[in-house]
Amino acid sequence: MVLAKTTGGRVDALDRRHNIHPFTDLAAMEKAERTVIVKAQGNYVFGEDGRKFLDGLGGMWCVNIGHGREEMAQAIADQVRQLDYYSPFDDLTTPAMASLVEALAQRAPGNLNRVLLTTGGSTAADSAVRLVHHYFIRLGQPSRRHVISRHNSYHGSTYLTASLSDPGYSEGWLAEREFVHHISAPNLYRRPEGLSEAEFLEVLVAEFEEKILELGAENVACFIAEPIQGSGGVIVPPEGYHKRMLAMCRKYGLLYISDEVVTGFGRLGHFFASEARFGIVPDIITSAKGLSSGYVPLGAVILSDDVYAVLSQKTGAYFNTGFTYSGHAVACAAALKNIEIIEREKLCERVRENGPRFEEKLKELVGLPLVGDVRGSRFMMCIEYVANKTRKELFADDVRIGKRIWRHCQKRGLLVRPLAHLNVLSPPLTLTLDEIEFIGDVLRDAIYDTADELTRDGIRTE
Ligand SMILES: Cc1ncc(COP(=O)(O)O)c(C=O)c1O
Repeated sequence: MVLAKTTGGRVDALDRRHNIHPFTDLAAMEKAERTVIVKAQGNYVFGEDGRKFLDGLGGMWCVNIGHGREEMAQAIADQVRQLDYYSPFDDLTTPAMASLVEALAQRAPGNLNRVLLTTGGSTAADSAVRLVHHYFIRLGQPSRRHVISRHNSYHGSTYLTASLSDPGYSEGWLAEREFVHHISAPNLYRRPEGLSEAEFLEVLVAEFEEKILELGAENVACFIAEPIQGSGGVIVPPEGYHKRMLAMCRKYGLLYISDEVVTGFGRLGHFFASEARFGIVPDIITSAKGLSSGYVPLGAVILSDDVYAVLSQKTGAYFNTGFTYSGHAVACAAALKNIEIIEREKLCERVRENGPRFEEKLKELVGLPLVGDVRGSRFMMCIEYVANKTRKELFADDVRIGKRIWRHCQKRGLLVRPLAHLNVLSPPLTLTLDEIEFIGDVLRDAIYDTADELTRDGIRTE
């Protein structure tokens, strides 16, 4: 078997004919032109035509240490030579797996010392909810099965995690609605007119309590939340939000799952953001993406000793979960090397140092046409575009505003993520100060070009 030639449109043609991409308009898929990426190095990726792009999205919020690390290639190759794969079932383990779970327990907050390894973020969030249900059954409270999630959340693409995600992800199929419920996103930009940040926080907390009471506290198992909502639009909650939500969980006996698939491994300047950034120690943290910096797939559910004590008490503690590739030796070796690099190169510290400049540079875009809001924190940022700045009105879907700006960025050598009316940025943590300037400058030019293009196309903006 040979790889398709990377010239002459062959990859594009094969891809259009056979490949089903994630989250794709299937009717348009065969027509959409592909950007074929053939190589990656450092903070850059390269197209088949030799074009070089700064990777503004870190692959998919995940390539935290940057691309093409020789020592990572070596660690992966060494592991394959030593032990490619062996089953994690039936009390079998490997040095890579045992070392990784120890490394995670050491870096996780509080007494989150128990780790269930999975194959990615979706399988981590899905497993976390299953663990919570198992926990309450073992606690003798089987009625506690309702899960409260939030609008604008994204927790994955298994049947359950897609149901946990914003209801918009469930269009066109039968989402789980019997035990999954959604409350408002803590979106400051779109909060009700006239409310201060502090007043908005009170509204959100009250809504959470009402939802718990409406379902009956004795029926609610857990709350699941990303510290900063990622795919839903990089929504940074009001000050104190997570502490208040955790306090509410404690008041009514719910467990708190913090989905750190994006926010972990340095993106916000810490291995985990829950405690270091938001002052909470949740019961469970889910992790993926930056955990292996995307070099190979991996996910983890990290739970507290307290939760584990209930799961493991007495007899009948058998829990049917796990995957063939739970704790895959190669993925664990990659994650260990990833942690080593993050610590040796002080990448968390670097994000804490350079993050404010990234925020500042992007916030300079606020006065530009089309830009409604620039938000985020450190290396997790987002620009929201609006048709009318005063009324914060969105463009019609078919304007594809995020994609238009994305196209203009690509022409200038920058990849950002187009998400409906948003562009999202989550670059490698190795991004330099010069590259921060480049990203801001390219976005500015791309936004001006797009505004001109909209005028030519007769699309009104105010
Ligand atoms: C917060 C969060 N949780 C879970 C997931 C799902 O992860 P995966 O795509 O690895 O299954 C994602 C993916 O973007 C995510 O952002």
